[in-house]
Amino acid sequence: MTWDVLIIGAGAAGMMAAIEAGKRGRRVLVVDHATKPGEKIRISGGGRCNFTNVHTSPKHFLSDNPSFAISALKRYSPRDFIALVERYGIAYHEKALGQLFCDGSAQQIVDMLLAEMRLNGAELRLGTTVDRVRKTETGFAAVLSHDQRGIEPVECTSLVVATGGKSIPKMGATGYGYELAKSFGLKVTETRPALVPLTLDPPTLARLEPLSGIAIDAVVSHGKTKFAEALLFTHRGLSGPAMLQISSFWREGDEIAVAMLPDLDVFAALRAARAENGRQSLQTGLGAFLPKRLAQMIAGELKGPERLGDWSDKLLRTAETAVNSWRFKPAGSEGYRTAEVTHGGVDTADLDSRTLQAKAVPGLYFVGEVVDVTGWLGGYNFQWAWASGWCAGQVA
Ligand code: FDA
Repeated sequence: MTWDVLIIGAGAAGMMAAIEAGKRGRRVLVVDHATKPGEKIRISGGGRCNFTNVHTSPKHFLSDNPSFAISALKRYSPRDFIALVERYGIAYHEKALGQLFCDGSAQQIVDMLLAEMRLNGAELRLGTTVDRVRKTETGFAAVLSHDQRGIEPVECTSLVVATGGKSIPKMGATGYGYELAKSFGLKVTETRPALVPLTLDPPTLARLEPLSGIAIDAVVSHGKTKFAEALLFTHRGLSGPAMLQISSFWREGDEIAVAMLPDLDVFAALRAARAENGRQSLQTGLGAFLPKRLAQMIAGELKGPERLGDWSDKLLRTAETAVNSWRFKPAGSEGYRTAEVTHGGVDTADLDSRTLQAKAVPGLYFVGEVVDVTGWLGGYNFQWAWASGWCAGQVA
């Protein structure tokens, strides 16, 4: 069978591309090897899908070419997606930092996209794998296989690759899009897990074990990059939004710095506590500002005098450093098993930023996470998926 557009991947970007190509009267087939479409949408944002961020700008994305995302993000903005959500009567709310979430369930976003696909005549085939993709004179040929339908050769004029990244293999993530890109001569930048909890070496983990479950509002930095969000101590290492954000910038062997009380002059606060009651311990002094178990650990590790009154200014400075300049080297990350996204992907140098078409292969498009454009945490990754899918859908 011949289609105008074959889209591989029924995730956020693939469904958006299908809707837009369908609106132009193109005969669109979307295939996905999973048994359900949009599974990452469904589980995203704790089941409420942080579907965009009202502050989206190119600075919220990492890529070898930081300017690449500008065009798509400008052409399809958060306002455009919000208008679609409102047209479907999906209630939503703004959480901190411009993040928009469904009031109800992320499934509403999946249902909305499926309804739009149906409305615009795009066909969806699940449980279907794509094989033997090759270029023909007029477009592309491939072989689809389905457990019940068997094997079916197909042809298309445009091929849109929307297979996402490698994160959460359990949910069907594969490196297929990268392999396909390479088979057509496109470059793929180094890929690695991003927005991922970081792990600690066994001795540090054992030391921090008692802190498991504690969350603090911290500033976490890697070089000049800083994020002021929650940090969570876990039984495997460090997580929470601040740590996930910084993980996208972190490389093996790099150091990370944490300010646990970023808005407090800890030295001045401890001097005041010492003046007020010199008989109290450092732990009690710190406990006025930090969770008890954390204060206990910091005071215990500093091994200073029992009474705060016996702490010199010089010693108080060491306490300040322990609280607001804690430095450590993560052992690694939890990897693709828990990473929200994949950093890196199809090299943007080989793609047209307006259409997401491969420069050297007319008719071949890469959209969404498979491209070397990685958003910060906070709805940016979906906005990239919508925007890049929308752009390809205008021309594919
Ligand atoms: P996506 O991964 O959504 O879709 C790819 C599709 O291709 C899948 O359906 C897959 O089955 C299919 N596929 C893969 N290989 C294939 C093959 N060989 N053959 C056929 N089909 C194949 N982002 C955000 O902005 N806000 C949020 O709240 C969250 N929350 C969140 C939570 C969790 C737990 C995760 C893992 C991720 C997020 N994200 C997020 C990130 C966001 O989910 C992600 O960036 C987008 O889903 C990417 O959309 P894509 O369409 O590019 O890929």
